[in-house]
Amino acid sequence: MKAHAGRVIALSVLARCTSAQVDYSQYVNPFLGSEGAIPGYAYGGGDIFVGGAVPFGMVKLGLDTFEEPVNQSALNGGWTPKGKVTGISLLHESGTGGGPKYGYPAQMPLTRIGDGAGDGVNLLDNRTYWQSRVGDDVASVGYFKTQFESGVTVELSATRHASIYQYTYPSSTDKHVLIDFSHYLPYPSRSWDSQFYTGGEIQIQPNGSIYTGYTSIANGWCLGPPVTIYVCGEFDSAPDNAETFSGKNTFPVGRHFRTFDNGTTPQPTFRGSEARSGPLNDRVGAIFSWNGTNSLSLIKSRVGVSFMSVDKACAYKNEEVASWDIQQTAQAARDEWNRDVFSKIQVDASPSANKTRLALLYSSLYFMHLIPSERVGENPLWESDEPYWDDFYTMWDLFRNQVSLWHLIQPSYYESMIRSLIDMFKNEGYMPDGRSGNYNGLVQGGSNADNVLADAYVKGLRGQINWTEGYAAVKKNAEVVPFFDQNPVDPLGSLKEGRSALIDWIPLGYVSADRSTRAVSKSVEYSLNDFAVSQIAAGEEPGDQELYLQRSAGWQLSWDTEAEARGFTGFVMPRFVNGTFHKTYNITNCGDCNWSDESYEGTAFEYSFVIPHDVERMIDLMGGPQHFETRLDYIFQPNTSGVDLGVNGLGITTINNVANEPDFGTPYLYNYLNKQWKSVQRSRQLANDFYFNASQGIPGNSDAGALNCWLVWQMLGLYPIVTTPVYLLESPWFSDINITVNHNSTLRIKAESLDDGYYVQSVKINGNEWSKNWFEHGDFDIMTEGGEIMFTLGEEQKVWETGDMPPSPGHRVVEPGGSLS
Ligand SMILES: *[C@@H]1O[C@H](CO)[C@@H](O)[C@H](O)[C@H]1NC(C)=O
Ligand SMILES: *[C@@H]1O[C@H](CO)[C@@H](O)[C@H](O)[C@H]1NC(C)=O
Ligand SMILES: *[C@@H]1O[C@H](CO)[C@@H](O)[C@H](O)[C@H]1NC(C)=O
Ligand SMILES: *[C@@H]1O[C@H](CO)[C@@H](O)[C@H](O)[C@H]1NC(C)=O
Ligand SMILES: *[C@@H]1O[C@H](CO)[C@@H](O)[C@H](O)[C@H]1NC(C)=O
Ligand SMILES: *[C@@H]1O[C@H](CO)[C@@H](O)[C@H](O)[C@H]1NC(C)=O
Ligand SMILES: *[C@@H]1O[C@H](CO)[C@@H](O)[C@H](O)[C@H]1NC(C)=O
Ligand SMILES: *[C@@H]1O[C@H](CO)[C@@H](O)[C@H](O)[C@H]1NC(C)=O
Ligand SMILES: *[C@@H]1O[C@H](CO)[C@@H](O)[C@H](O)[C@H]1NC(C)=O
Ligand SMILES: *[C@@H]1O[C@H](CO)[C@@H](O)[C@H](O)[C@H]1NC(C)=O
Ligand SMILES: *[C@@H]1O[C@H](CO)[C@@H](O)[C@H](O)[C@H]1NC(C)=O
Ligand SMILES: *[C@@H]1O[C@H](CO)[C@@H](O)[C@H](O)[C@H]1NC(C)=O
Repeated sequence: MKAHAGRVIALSVLARCTSAQVDYSQYVNPFLGSEGAIPGYAYGGGDIFVGGAVPFGMVKLGLDTFEEPVNQSALNGGWTPKGKVTGISLLHESGTGGGPKYGYPAQMPLTRIGDGAGDGVNLLDNRTYWQSRVGDDVASVGYFKTQFESGVTVELSATRHASIYQYTYPSSTDKHVLIDFSHYLPYPSRSWDSQFYTGGEIQIQPNGSIYTGYTSIANGWCLGPPVTIYVCGEFDSAPDNAETFSGKNTFPVGRHFRTFDNGTTPQPTFRGSEARSGPLNDRVGAIFSWNGTNSLSLIKSRVGVSFMSVDKACAYKNEEVASWDIQQTAQAARDEWNRDVFSKIQVDASPSANKTRLALLYSSLYFMHLIPSERVGENPLWESDEPYWDDFYTMWDLFRNQVSLWHLIQPSYYESMIRSLIDMFKNEGYMPDGRSGNYNGLVQGGSNADNVLADAYVKGLRGQINWTEGYAAVKKNAEVVPFFDQNPVDPLGSLKEGRSALIDWIPLGYVSADRSTRAVSKSVEYSLNDFAVSQIAAGEEPGDQELYLQRSAGWQLSWDTEAEARGFTGFVMPRFVNGTFHKTYNITNCGDCNWSDESYEGTAFEYSFVIPHDVERMIDLMGGPQHFETRLDYIFQPNTSGVDLGVNGLGITTINNVANEPDFGTPYLYNYLNKQWKSVQRSRQLANDFYFNASQGIPGNSDAGALNCWLVWQMLGLYPIVTTPVYLLESPWFSDINITVNHNSTLRIKAESLDDGYYVQSVKINGNEWSKNWFEHGDFDIMTEGGEIMFTLGEEQKVWETGDMPPSPGHRVVEPGGSLS
């Protein structure tokens, strides 16, 4: 099976079917989202990780590349379609749109190393040994294979904290493996928030086949302090020669220390069995060599990593990669994915099934389970019995609907994540809105962990979560201004954690445009955050509930009834401290829509639709149901967008931007008019127009899988209203879906007459006629005990729902543009 443009999806030939289990992993396209709109380049694509990993694995083993021109590349996931390989490393993100993070610690197989000066290879200069790839890369779940121009074939697989590399060298070449502890994913087009190396140590054990040590890499997207990772690597055969080296640290990383910029890269100094960085943060590494033209052409390496110690890294290596057979590790990864992820949503996979849909479903599930990274027992910062996670990159993406799916199909992992978030609050002061490299940041708008906790809370997730502390965590976000972190992109507030615009929000009730950045989007996000706080308060601190419900109406204070655009009147607008609105603000064009602008990654036109807790009031303020419907119809018309969305919406010409998170729920708003068929029509069209089983198959950065998860809900025929127990009913893509919810119950979703059309004609829940276009988590205990939702589909665009419209549980009427009484 051949994927687009030089990528091959490996058939899992070894996939043995133990019992009657289906190998769903065979339907995953590991390259879906690896390419952007410009063929052969990653720019504007999914920024996904490609390589070997287990669900939420700490280790994600894959290629790191350097692709030029840098303005149409994106190194975030490491892999790029045509980039030159600079190393093969264990830690990666997937789908992130900010600056690259991780890409360490690395190995690199070389067929020549020269004599230091002779043939031009300099172990300190990746440009002297980087490799183009020959032919098509091959990937399947848990396995990756490529061939370098040097002739070396590389195969990779991973476990939770370790990995296995397999190098097949041409018989006539030298065989070397470079261990480069100063390797990381750079940010070639921007240096101020690029990662940089701050030091390490490497030792080669006496018998020569084992190396240990650590590397520290700082900065990256959230401007974090150095991350130290301990490494334990082993080769399956003793090398003929193995030596460490060190060299001057001359990386060109802008304002950071010891930059030589366009100076000549120095040569390494060989150091025998041990090299240390010393006070000048020298680069360190090692070179393992197996002598030339003997018969040995296969070299394997197992590597474990730990944020705690070398001993732990060695233990992971030994326990998790017990065999040198890479196919065993790959099979174990595939088994885990099938067992813990894919089999949670089962659809017909018989020969007659639509393979495109299988690929879209199982690939989407795959990409929404790569980050955050589970790091239980791997928290270097404080001692705790609570679980630890990292790489929430970011809550702003995850809260929209991804956490709601994890709630159903990953209850154990999800409970563990929430406990970890609360433990961060207890030990560091705040839950993260983004977190990576053990460091909170960046905050794009509100404190969206509040929404995550509220969603879990209202749906009854308890387990070992201490909700007294959970409530304290969200209340802190709502009440305490975080310290100012001096991030150069925002002169007015902290991007690290919390809600810096509380300086406006508490006294004024809205986020002002003169004392804070991103006033429009923050006013909208803080409103939902405070609704979330009120949802938890209802159970944990009832006396607080009313206060936060009142604050959750703050968006109405930012609603300018006179603002007009494209014939529509009334929008959330930037409002100054003195109470006047920024009247000349462009409602359809947020400019760069960036950190220091008045609205973040979305226009005032779009954000005026993002009030999920009080759609009723939003409809009122837009002039009632008819005006609302006309406005909603308008944002899906082609060529209405007034903003250049850049990579956050390449090729999208509608005001509604399906490629970015703020608008995820907007196509479903017709349910609030009891015109569910129009939600189905819009959302199905968006899915068909922008999602494909191809390298360019998603309309932007996958954002930790948020875009993929949007598609999963679309295919299930449901959409969750986060922070509330409500699910909207839409239209499933399969005639029979079994979802394992709440550990071991089965929610079955059936669709009769799927082939006749995708409009809903009627719905039954557990055999009862259902007249509403929504239901709640607790209805019939369907999401906890299981049950059956039966859709009857057809081609008629039918108003089938006669019952109540979806609720607006945060409904409050406040004078638009008014002030706190
Ligand atoms: C990148 O820069 C080149 C010129 O150096 C230009 O031709 C190309 O269009 C740019 N690509 C993008 C995506 O901006
Ligand atoms: C490779 O070398 C170039 C030039 O020194 C440098 O900019 C880059 O950060 C290096 N590393 C990688 C992984 O690309
Ligand atoms: C090297 O030593 C380690 C432990 O000290 C051992 O596990 C490994 O088998 C040895 N390798 C060789 C090639 O002797
Ligand atoms: C380095 O860059 C500077 C400033 O652009 C230039 O004047 C100098 O000639 C360059 N040096 C080398 C060795 O390329
Ligand atoms: C391997 O090559 C090195 C360097 O050429 C040499 O010193 C060494 O003796 C060789 N070892 C074997 C086992 O041939
Ligand atoms: C769903 O589960 C039911 C009951 O076990 C079974 O009969 C049906 O075949 C399953 N459907 C799918 C698509 O797996
Ligand atoms: C299979 O599904 C895809 C995606 O929904 C659709 O475009 C295609 O028409 C379907 N193929 C058949 C034969 O129904
Ligand atoms: C929950 O946390 C609170 C505050 O730290 C503590 O007093 C209480 O004992 C905890 N509850 C449980 C069940 O551990
Ligand atoms: C209100 O504040 C804005 C921003 O500082 C200023 O432009 C405007 O003139 C002020 N209006 C009044 C009436 O003070
Ligand atoms: C956003 O601002 C940052 C920092 O000023 C800048 O580097 C980046 O290019 C901007 N992005 C866009 C899309 O304007
Ligand atoms: C807003 O921006 C759009 C798109 O750039 C532009 O066409 C329009 O004229 C602007 N509107 C106002 C009121 O400035
Ligand atoms: C279902 O899972 C829950 C939670 O793991 C467990 O307590 C319960 O015993 C399981 N029930 C069955 C029937 O397996």
